[in-house]
Amino acid sequence: MSRLKVGVLVSGRGSNLGAILDRSLAGEIDVEVAVVISDVADAAALDRARNAGVPAIHIPPGRFRTKLDPEIERRYVDVLREHGVELVALAGFMRVLHEDFLTAFSRAVVNIHPSLLPSFPGLDVQRKAIEHGVKWSGATVHFVDSGVDSGPIILQAAVPVLDDDTPETLAARILVEEHRIYPEALQLIAQRRITVQGRRVLLRPTEGPGS
Ligand code: GRF
Repeated sequence: MSRLKVGVLVSGRGSNLGAILDRSLAGEIDVEVAVVISDVADAAALDRARNAGVPAIHIPPGRFRTKLDPEIERRYVDVLREHGVELVALAGFMRVLHEDFLTAFSRAVVNIHPSLLPSFPGLDVQRKAIEHGVKWSGATVHFVDSGVDSGPIILQAAVPVLDDDTPETLAARILVEEHRIYPEALQLIAQRRITVQGRRVLLRPTEGPGS
């Protein structure tokens, strides 16, 4: 089976990118990271990519704070296409993507989020989970749609919220699960084991019909 070509968009430290690269380079998932793009020039994620021999490109975002300029978004699409990308994985990418991007990569953009969606979309979610008093939080891998952290859910993993948790300790516990389930979700897509029915993402067993 040929490997799924994934383009990863990042803005920061890139620990999820690192987890994906580790599993990919070890041959444990049928995924090739074809290119990494960052909107932030000095993102540590770019160094991780370069150290792994993966093209790592900084494309400045333009004049907005939470989104890309439309012409820059088109440039992102062009660069991803130039590298043969079939699936775009957001890994700590801090900008909202617009309809044109999502149309260019239809049902082919995924994201990792550090809460059990649909609880706590958006930012600063570990603090919000603690302050709300939930007993469990976790990580979610989901398809990206035009809303904020609202697309169909592919995989989730739960962790307990402990009485003495700070946002940092909870984030660290969730991150362990992020690093486990993000590569797993990419592998499910690479193996074409996923069907989307409305909001539901159905997983076919490995040996099931049509696999
Ligand atoms: C992760 O917690 C991810 O869930 C969120 O942003 C953070 C990125 O961390 N979307 P890293 O850059 O992968 O280390």
